[in-house]
Amino acid sequence: MVRQTRWLVTLVSVLTIAAMLLAACGPAAGPKTNKLEIFSWWTGGGEADGLAQMFKIYKAKYPNVEIINATVAGGAGSNAKAVLKTRMLGGDPPDSFQVHAGQEIADWVKADKMEILDSLYTSEGWDKVFPKDLLDILKVNGHYYSVPVNIHRSNVLWYNKKVFAANNLTAPKTFDDFFKVAEALKAKGITPLALGDNGPWAAAHLFEDILAGTLGQEGYNGLWTGKTAWSDAKVTAALETFKKMLGYVNADHSALSWDQAAQYVIDGKAGMTIMGDWTDGYFVSKKFTDYGWAASPGTEGIFVMLSDSFGLPKGAKNRENALNWLKVCGSFDGQEAFNPLKGSIPARTDGGKANYDDYLKSAMKDWASNKLCPSVAHGAAAPEGWVTAYVDAISVFVTKQDVAATQAALVKACKDAGVCK
Ligand code: GAL
Repeated sequence: MVRQTRWLVTLVSVLTIAAMLLAACGPAAGPKTNKLEIFSWWTGGGEADGLAQMFKIYKAKYPNVEIINATVAGGAGSNAKAVLKTRMLGGDPPDSFQVHAGQEIADWVKADKMEILDSLYTSEGWDKVFPKDLLDILKVNGHYYSVPVNIHRSNVLWYNKKVFAANNLTAPKTFDDFFKVAEALKAKGITPLALGDNGPWAAAHLFEDILAGTLGQEGYNGLWTGKTAWSDAKVTAALETFKKMLGYVNADHSALSWDQAAQYVIDGKAGMTIMGDWTDGYFVSKKFTDYGWAASPGTEGIFVMLSDSFGLPKGAKNRENALNWLKVCGSFDGQEAFNPLKGSIPARTDGGKANYDDYLKSAMKDWASNKLCPSVAHGAAAPEGWVTAYVDAISVFVTKQDVAATQAALVKACKDAGVCK
């Protein structure tokens, strides 16, 4: 009996010490679990395929981990962000979530909801292999909080080659060219420009490209730093151009998503669409090859950029699995599998070796040589509150088309963001 008790005491002590040791390792180690929940808005053709490729790589490395693909449809995260907010504030964060590189994550950082990933950057060599421009955008208060998987381009005009050839048209370079082409298409009963802004971000996306095409790189970038006044006559001109463009879009634009608008180009119902290069991923997924592309009007030599990344929220239930996920995201193999299908170029400077199509090859060339502008609709240029105010102002503009009122709203948004006086 005494012996038994002694055994029991020893066992309890051993277990206690083991538990203490485990606790000493702190949240860093985390319990071993067999799940991994990845939260994103990638449901469209191309983007979903790219994500599946990264899952495949993860599964091959960690076959015992079940991946939960938690997606909320809606381009640019228009719906996903609200769901994420509820979960984060309710103490139920996913293990890792999609977030645009740049200011988009800043609010979560401020709320102390994100883990710093600096040591992962060092151990994985990412501080050496990601380009400096991107590293600068990724840093919030001097730290890294997410891992980029790609570089996307916002300012691309896509067109149906057959439609253009049949009407003797070439890709427009300037706004004047654009309106000439648009008139010609309209005369033939073809929608000149397909727009799908059932998520209002898509119209805001179109307008950021018009701003870049009107103000140039320096002028556009100055809008986000306070150097260019939102009351500038060029912003007025950009709004006027936008208004004119809206006269050439499909009547059902507010009922369509970005990919349904791209489908209009595939079907030859529309001649052009201006959208980010996830459209390339969409075309590839639909096996559509008869498309051409050009920088959106006025933006030749400018690359309006954004980058998708994944972060690690504090309190992730499957932290260790999430860390391994982030390693796949930043890895050479992960990015080479993901990007050719996603319609983006790798964030890694040693990437770009796999099978990239002609469009993506041209994007790689432009990324290396063009002047860069950060996208506002996709989180690179401004913090979330400002982005929302900007998107709201443009969404009202699409229906009311009041240039003065919209410009005033944009002026105010910059003031409210604390950037303009
Ligand atoms: C962007 C995102 C892209 C693409 C697009 C449409 O915000 O960066 O990766 O998914 O939305 O969903």
